[in-house]
Amino acid sequence: MDNLLWILFVITVSLLSTIIFHNKNKLKSSSSSSRSHFITSTTTRNLPQLPLGSLGWPFLGETLEFISCAYSERPESFVDKRRCMYGKVFKSHIFGTSTIVSTDAEVSRFVLQSDAKAFVPSYPKSLTELMGKSSILLINGSLQRRIHGLIGAFFKSPHLKAQITRDMQKYVQKSMDTWTEDQPIYIQDETKSIAFQVLVKALISLDPGEEMEFLKKQFQEFISGLMSLPVNIPGSQLYRSLQARAKKKMVKLVQEIVQSKRSGGISTVPKDVIDVLLLNNASDQPLTDDLIADNMIDMMIPGEDSVPVLMTLAIKYLSDCPAALNQLTEENMKLKRLKAELGEPLSWSDYLSLTFTQAVITETLRMGNIIIGVMRKAMKDIEFKGYLIPKGWCFFAYFRSVHLDESNYDWPYQFNPWRWQDNKDIGNCNFTPFGGGQRLCPGLDLARLEASIFLHNFVTQFRWMAEEDTVVNFPTVRMKRRLPVWVKRRGDSS
Ligand code: HEM
Repeated sequence: MDNLLWILFVITVSLLSTIIFHNKNKLKSSSSSSRSHFITSTTTRNLPQLPLGSLGWPFLGETLEFISCAYSERPESFVDKRRCMYGKVFKSHIFGTSTIVSTDAEVSRFVLQSDAKAFVPSYPKSLTELMGKSSILLINGSLQRRIHGLIGAFFKSPHLKAQITRDMQKYVQKSMDTWTEDQPIYIQDETKSIAFQVLVKALISLDPGEEMEFLKKQFQEFISGLMSLPVNIPGSQLYRSLQARAKKKMVKLVQEIVQSKRSGGISTVPKDVIDVLLLNNASDQPLTDDLIADNMIDMMIPGEDSVPVLMTLAIKYLSDCPAALNQLTEENMKLKRLKAELGEPLSWSDYLSLTFTQAVITETLRMGNIIIGVMRKAMKDIEFKGYLIPKGWCFFAYFRSVHLDESNYDWPYQFNPWRWQDNKDIGNCNFTPFGGGQRLCPGLDLARLEASIFLHNFVTQFRWMAEEDTVVNFPTVRMKRRLPVWVKRRGDSS
């Protein structure tokens, strides 16, 4: 009910703002709002200028219109409308800050590759208040590079990949063994539970059990509402303190694990991310137990929700595209039979060899836009391609519009995994589901591996019928009804 009122409020105010905004534009069009005028004046005088755009209402800026679009079927309409009026890079005022929004992949790449002297991460205050000061998501400079490098290398290590493959297969099988044919299976819930177990095992080596359940419960409390608006809703202070308490309890649990690892002697072959950080600790900037424990929880923030959403969306898109589902099933069945004949379990490289399955995951990342974009704050005035990004402003690299731009992808709203078959565009700056530059997601291999294992087991063990469901894009991407599917176990040979 509260949500409904909030949405009505948002829609009413944004309709008003649309009308006023429209009128403002009419007035402006006679003076300076034409894009061609902007281009001519910058090229003749060659001076970088603040991109065109509107800062909207006092205090609110254009946040409400951004949110009302975000709730709609086409969340990118806010950005696309302005892109048509002002060009690929424009100014706005969203979430309490003057912001330069970029749908120009080249400009975004430049910003993401810049170091902390030019840009630092910018997360909503509700989130930063709850992160440790030394959280990998917030720190900059050499410490960030060091931790990022260690974690990235660990997630790429063959040892971890072998371990994750085993664990993931075990957790997936355990979950699928409980599925029954007389009631729907909610894919979003199942994948969430599986992915949480894998993540926690990789970070802190906790196995499913009482402590894992405790952590899951506390984490849910901690994460709920983190992406809220930067306004003081009555009761939000109390809410924040409950979230902070949940985090404290989790940090305490992780600290105990760190201490027991220290006292038991640090493993020379790292089994989890804690081992990696402890093992590489003999330097002039030692990592304290507090920093390690805090970071394990903060690392769950980007890792916890994104992978299950990737798996869920892949099932949704495949349910709507029988040709892709058939090809994917055939490919996975073939590998399953081959491995059965050889009497071998599937390895990480087996999953990677499934080229069509990988293309399905890539296309799901492009269409799903699990992370719509990333934010940075400019530490000084920056100029690029004739645009000025002023010191103190936010920069929003909006990936969604790039991924759905028809000049980059033919029929961008169509699920078409075949477009990736020769893999030619994967390293291109028009495809950045995992970000780029200094903060490229260190969990990207893990995410792909988990999705491959889930898809393999699902299509080789079951046929299914998905019920009608729709994708919701705000505040995070998810399925409205948690994607209920009716499953039927396959016979051995089918
Ligand atoms: C489909 C799954 C995933 C997607 C789409 C995704 C996307 C992203 C993106 C776009 C960024 C860049 C943020 C920025 O530039 O500000 C990022 C960073 C990050 N991701 Fe992922 N991610 C996924 C899975 C994971 C997993 C499984 C982990 C595992 C722990 C993880 C850990 C991280 C961390 C720690 C960062 C911050 C890196 C830094 O700031 O140095 N992500 N992710």
